[in-house]
Amino acid sequence: MRAVEIVPSILSADVGRLAEQVQEAESAGADRIQVDVMDGHFVPNLTFGPQVVEAVRRATKLPVEAHLMVERPELFVEAFARSGATLIEVQVEATTSLYRTVQTIKELGARAGVAINPATPVDALREILPYIDLVNVMTVEPGFGGQKFIPHSPEKVRRVRDLSNQVEIEVDGGIDARTAPLVVKAGASVLVAGNSVYGYKGGVAAGIKAIRDAVG
Ligand code: DX5
Repeated sequence: MRAVEIVPSILSADVGRLAEQVQEAESAGADRIQVDVMDGHFVPNLTFGPQVVEAVRRATKLPVEAHLMVERPELFVEAFARSGATLIEVQVEATTSLYRTVQTIKELGARAGVAINPATPVDALREILPYIDLVNVMTVEPGFGGQKFIPHSPEKVRRVRDLSNQVEIEVDGGIDARTAPLVVKAGASVLVAGNSVYGYKGGVAAGIKAIRDAVG
C-alpha cells in the first residue's frame, strides 16, 4: 500500500490570506498544495492563473500542483510550468492532443497528470496511461468546492488501479474523514481536500489531522 498524501486545495482557502493559509497547511503536515485552475469554459467557474502558482510557490517548500480545468490546456502548460508547478494535470476531456500535451509537460520538467470527470469511462485513459505519472479521479463534477462525494467513485478508483499498478491515483472532490478511507481502500494514495481542510470548523490543522487519522 502506498503512503497516503494529503493535498489541500486552495479553492476553499481565504485568498486574502493565501500565503498564511498555505503555511498553515504546511505546518499541519500537508504533503503538497493544489491550485485549482478554472477558465469559465470547461467548468462554470473562474479562478487562478500562473501568478497564483508563483505566489503559492513563494509561500511554501511543498510541491505545488496545478489542476487545469480549462479548455485547450496545451495553450497554458508552459506558463504553469514556468510559474513553478511541479505537477500539471489536464482533463482528458479538454484537449484533442493529449499525448502531445503530456509530452510537453514532461519536456518542461514537470510531472504529468490526467484528470477524468465522473461520467468519463476509465477506458479513456488506456492509451495515455503508460506516459503519465498520476491519474486524478474526479469524485465530484469539477467547478466548485464543498460538493458531495459521488458514491460510485471508489469503484472507479478500483478500475483505474486494475489498469495500472504504477500510476499514482489522486482523488478530488468531497474528500473528508468519511470518504477518504473508502477511496484509499480502493487504491487511491493522493487526497485533494479543499472544504474539509479550509472549511473545517476546528481549523486547518484539525482538518488535516481528521483525514490523516481516518486513513491511519
Ligand atoms: C473541482 C475542484 C474541487 C476542489 C476540492 O471542483 O478541484 O474538487 O479541488 O473541493 P472539495 O474538497 O471542497 O470538495
